[in-house]
Amino acid sequence: MWNNITSCSLWRLSPSFMSSRIQTLTPLFIRHYKDFCKNRQTIWTLRNSLCQVLKKTVPTLTCNMFPHCFVSNKARYGQYKKTFPVLDGSIPSVCEHVFEENLRNSEACIQRYSELLCKVSKGGGESAILRHTQRNKKLLVRERLRMLLDDETFLELSPFAGFDLPYGDVPAAGCLTGIGKICGVWCVFMANDATVKGGTAYPISVKKQLRAQQIAIQNRLLSIYLVDSGGAFLPLQAELFPDQSHGGRVFYNEAIMSAMKIPQVAVVCGSCTAGGAYVPTVAEETVIVDKIGSMFLAGPPLVKAATGEDISPEDLGGASMHSKVSGCVDHFASSEKEAYECVRNIVLTLNYELPPEETLEYDDPLYSAEELLGLAPRGYSYTLHIKLILSRLIDGSRFQEFKAEYGTTLVTGFAHMEGHLVGIVANNGQLTHDASLKGSHFVQLCSQRSIPILFLQNTAPHAPEPTSLSQAEDHTNRLKAQASMMAAVACAAVPKITLVIGGCYGNESYAMCGRSFDPNFLFLWPNARVALVDSRHISTFPQARDDDCTGDDSELKHLKEKLDEESSAFHSSARLWDDGIILPQNSRKVIAQCLTIMKQQKYQITSLQHYPVIRL
Ligand code: COA
Repeated sequence: MWNNITSCSLWRLSPSFMSSRIQTLTPLFIRHYKDFCKNRQTIWTLRNSLCQVLKKTVPTLTCNMFPHCFVSNKARYGQYKKTFPVLDGSIPSVCEHVFEENLRNSEACIQRYSELLCKVSKGGGESAILRHTQRNKKLLVRERLRMLLDDETFLELSPFAGFDLPYGDVPAAGCLTGIGKICGVWCVFMANDATVKGGTAYPISVKKQLRAQQIAIQNRLLSIYLVDSGGAFLPLQAELFPDQSHGGRVFYNEAIMSAMKIPQVAVVCGSCTAGGAYVPTVAEETVIVDKIGSMFLAGPPLVKAATGEDISPEDLGGASMHSKVSGCVDHFASSEKEAYECVRNIVLTLNYELPPEETLEYDDPLYSAEELLGLAPRGYSYTLHIKLILSRLIDGSRFQEFKAEYGTTLVTGFAHMEGHLVGIVANNGQLTHDASLKGSHFVQLCSQRSIPILFLQNTAPHAPEPTSLSQAEDHTNRLKAQASMMAAVACAAVPKITLVIGGCYGNESYAMCGRSFDPNFLFLWPNARVALVDSRHISTFPQARDDDCTGDDSELKHLKEKLDEESSAFHSSARLWDDGIILPQNSRKVIAQCLTIMKQQKYQITSLQHYPVIRL
């Protein structure tokens, strides 16, 4: 289902096979094959571009080589979708009390989620909104997005980033990011919210932009920047400027992405100083809004201080100046509305091939998604069987299980999510030796068949200490098997989505495609706990402690409270260790949307070039 075209599995063809046929193929194909041998990272790009080339230039040869390539999945498989076995998702009555406990906890978490969302939606607060809209005559960031987007299908990323940080609250990190559609093309948006300290960049704002760019790179999505930023938030300049992942990385990425043929389009829709001015200047194509947009390295007050000259923002770096004199922008728009129309027209020049307009047919799950609130574990010991959750997420609750009887603490198998075929790897207990081997095998199957993988993560908070030699041996074997699974997950050349439904604890979370294993998207349920250890499993003070720690009960209590707070999903999301918290009952929609978004890359013209578009 992922795509029959990509299932031609370039990497399975031996060099001798390739060289015997390669003379007959186009030079582009040859270059790609050589590139492929050099750099495994570009595997998706190469596979996609190979298919484009084959499809466009040598259809007959292709069909002979890969007879199954160009037959629509829908035609071949659609009619058989309903043959996967149906899961029994009824909740056993003995589990009712656990269900009730979980439900209460989920409701409390969702209450916190709603309050935070409300707070974030107010940006920098009422007076900043008034200054922004009435004095500066600008649209609010969400209004801007509404004007740009085709429809409401906007997947906002990490709205809670910047909440309750050591340097204060920075609503949505002062920068909205997300994925939406312009003229049918999925794009990543990075839009400054100037109601939050003039749109200046805090360290967390930079992190959020870098993550959005990483998503754009991984999923090959056009990037749109709505720039309205006073540059660096000066009190924190030391954490913003010099290091590799600091502010400059955003501009570096723009150039690299352009060289990767991921288009970069910017709109200057506010006063953009210093770092704020580089983003549009490095972009491939830039629009500026008259009387609203301006760009300079140092604004009028600094010019006055340095030279004594009085100069207006318009004369120093306004829309006319940059479109007529400096050439830093390419399109002059007399209003914000005109600027966003211009962006839509730019998207139409990208020469994208869009996915065919097919409506995937699918069945809803047989069980209510609302019941997921009672299945979302409030702690590891409140975990119910994972198939109860699966049966509320997948089409028709149908699941083609793999190795059902082996390593049962991990559930693996295939299912559809709103019509998209997906491989599922789901924790159902500790990641034992057998479960890890099963996970490795299944992940490789998905990779071999070009099927994206969904990890449902609920890892165990701690492994019991071995008390005998044989137990120690077991531990070693389990470690080895987990290491194999980690390697399989790290190297699987298919898109991955991780959803933390319960615990994200310790080593097991790596094998379940935690953040450091680069899933294309990682979301948390509000009940999720993210930590090396579970505070509820600490009964004594850790051995290595500060000299002034007494290790008494009150200190232990304090440590546990601290750990508890630091393990919450909100703490994680505030620091951008994930792409956002999603509600259990919305998970199916969000995952299906991600699967759709990730598919777009197959339809792009993806021949590689080595240089970005350089502004001249
Ligand atoms: N660092 C820290 N805080 C900044 C800031 C910066 N670079 N730029 C603006 N702010 C703060 C202001 O102090 C103000 O804070 P407050 O709401 O607590 O009073 C808030 O952001 C809004 O600024 P204000 O000037 O009142 O709003 P504005 O809409 O009229 O103008 C800017 C916004 C960004 C255009 C303007 O403040 C500006 O030009 N700032 C200087 C930018 C600069 O020189 N950057 C250099 C970075 S290297």
